[in-house]
Amino acid sequence: MLSTCAQVLDGQTAWTPDSWRERIAAQQPHYADAQGLRQAATHLRQAAPLVSAQSIDLLKTRLAQAQQGRAFVLQGGDCAEAFADTDPAALKRLLVLMEHMSQALMPGLQRPVIKIGRLAGQYAKPRSSDIETHAGLSLPVYRGDIVNQAEFCPQARRADPARLLQAYAHSASTLEHARAIQAIMHSDNLAERSLFISHEALLLEYEQSLTRQQADGRWLNQSTHLPWIGLRTAQPDGAHVEYLRGVDNPLAIKVGADTTASDLLQLVERLNPGNQPGRLTLIHRMGALLLGERLGALIDALKRADAKVLWLCDPMHGNTRTLPCATKTRAFDDILAEIAMAFRVHARHGSILGGLHLEMTGEAVTECLGGPADLQASDLGQCYLSKVDPRLNGEQALELARRVSLDRLACNADIR
Ligand code: PEP
Ligand code: CO
Repeated sequence: MLSTCAQVLDGQTAWTPDSWRERIAAQQPHYADAQGLRQAATHLRQAAPLVSAQSIDLLKTRLAQAQQGRAFVLQGGDCAEAFADTDPAALKRLLVLMEHMSQALMPGLQRPVIKIGRLAGQYAKPRSSDIETHAGLSLPVYRGDIVNQAEFCPQARRADPARLLQAYAHSASTLEHARAIQAIMHSDNLAERSLFISHEALLLEYEQSLTRQQADGRWLNQSTHLPWIGLRTAQPDGAHVEYLRGVDNPLAIKVGADTTASDLLQLVERLNPGNQPGRLTLIHRMGALLLGERLGALIDALKRADAKVLWLCDPMHGNTRTLPCATKTRAFDDILAEIAMAFRVHARHGSILGGLHLEMTGEAVTECLGGPADLQASDLGQCYLSKVDPRLNGEQALELARRVSLDRLACNADIR
C-alpha cells in the first residue's frame, strides 16, 4: 500500500508534489507512451518558471482586497486556448477588451478592477464522457490541445506526451506577447502593468512538473498565478484537491448547484486550513434559477464557519444549452440574469460578490445568443470557432460590463 510510506500529520498525510498520485485523479488521459510521458515531465521540471513568486504573492494580496470589497476581479478568456491561436493581434484585442470592460465596470462598482486572464495555459479540458462515437466509430474525446487534437480520427485523438512541452512553449510565448502588449497599454502606469494569468489545473502531470520549491521552503505552481479546480475534479478527497492544497498560490475552485455545504466546508478546510485572506476564491456557476435557490445556504454555512473566501460569479457554465442542431450556446440575457441575481443573493446574505469569471474573446464570433446584435440561433453558424464552450464576443462582453455597472448604479440608488 502506497499510503503507508507517507507520514501522517494531523489526520492528513504529508504533502509532497506527487502525493496526489495516491488519490483518485478524475479526467486524466491515458498515455500509452509511458516513456514519452516521463521524458516530457523531466523536460518540464527543468524548464524556466513562467511566473515569478513575487507576482503570485502580489495577486494573493490583491485578492484579499477583493474579498473585503476593496477591489473587483474580472477573470476572462477562452474556454479552451488552442495551439493554432498564435495571432498577437487577437491577444491584444482580448487585453484591450478587458481594459475597456474594467473602465465600464468602474462607475457602478466604485472599486479598482483586478484583471486576470484565462490564458497562457488554458489548454486542458474536462469532458462529460471519455469516448465519442460517430457512425459506429468510437474514439477518446478531445481533452484540450495539451492532450490531443479535436479532429475526429484515431491518430489525432491519441494522448501525445509531446503536447505537454508544446503547451509550455505556447504558454511562454503567449505570456511574452501579453506582457509586451500590457507594457505598451500602461506605459504611464507601472502598477497597472502586472498581468495575472490563470488556468484550470486539470492535467496534474503538467501542474506537478512546474511546481517549484522556494528558498523559504514554500512550494509554488509557477505555471500560472491562479490555478483553479474545475467542478468535475472538486472531490474533497480527490487528487486535484490533494495537489493544490500543498502549493502556496492563491487558488480557486468552482462551486456548482449540487455542491453541498458539507463538501464546501471540507474543501475550504483542506485548501485553506489557516483561513488566510486571499488564498481561496470560490467561483459559483449554478445558472440563474438554481443560484437563487441554493447559493444563500452555502454563503450562510461559510459565514458560520468564519471562512475567509472571495466569491466570484461564473454566469457561463450554468447557462449552457444545446440547440436542436446540436450547437452548444448560451444566451446573453441568461448570463446577465445570473450576475444580477448573484449580486442580490450576496447582499441579502451579508456577503460580497467580488468579481466575474467569463468565457469571452475579443473576436467577432457568433457563439452566444442575444446581445447588442441580438444574435439568433440561425446566426450562430456564421463564425462559431470555439472547440469547446461558447464565448461572449467582444461586443457582448463590453455590453455586459456596461449593463452590470448600470445595474449596480440603480441598486445603490435604491439603497440610498
Ligand atoms: C470551464 O471553466 O471551462 C469549465 C469546464 O468549468 P466548470 O468546471 O465550472 O464546468
Ligand atoms: Co468552459
